[in-house]
Amino acid sequence: MAVEAREPVVPVADERTLTVLRERALSAMDRAYAPYSGFRVGAALLASDGSITEGCNIENASFPATICAERSAVAAAVSRGNRSFDAVMIATEAEEPTPPCGVCRQVLVEFAPRLAVISVTRGGREARWTLDELLPQAFTPDSMDRR
Ligand code: THU
Repeated sequence: MAVEAREPVVPVADERTLTVLRERALSAMDRAYAPYSGFRVGAALLASDGSITEGCNIENASFPATICAERSAVAAAVSRGNRSFDAVMIATEAEEPTPPCGVCRQVLVEFAPRLAVISVTRGGREARWTLDELLPQAFTPDSMDRR
């Protein structure tokens, strides 16, 4: 599998965990509800305790009510009691790996400022970033302490 972006600064999980994350993100993508855009997305979020929670995009006839796969995974994981994450694997059917949208970056940084973000395509392409490089100078819970 081609790795096109540079390796995250954050140590990513071992290859076996990455393989599981890929499988879980791709299977979550198959459960996406995206009748309006036709753009299906899956996410697999690796918590610091090793557990993995999946999410998919869930669109709505009232378009702004749509939730992205990454935020759907965060909501499910936090609801399960996880608040600390090491990596998120995103899967799409696009030609090139896609990074998370700006809103999802903001939601992810709340719980995982040092997150490894990996994106895969159905065709086997892959890109890796850190959340810090995708969302530099982020507004975080620490920012609130500077009042
Ligand atoms: N989408 C995601 O699930 N994650 C992203 O980071 C980008 C966009 C979804 C939202 C919508 O259902 C579809 O992709 C097209 O924007």
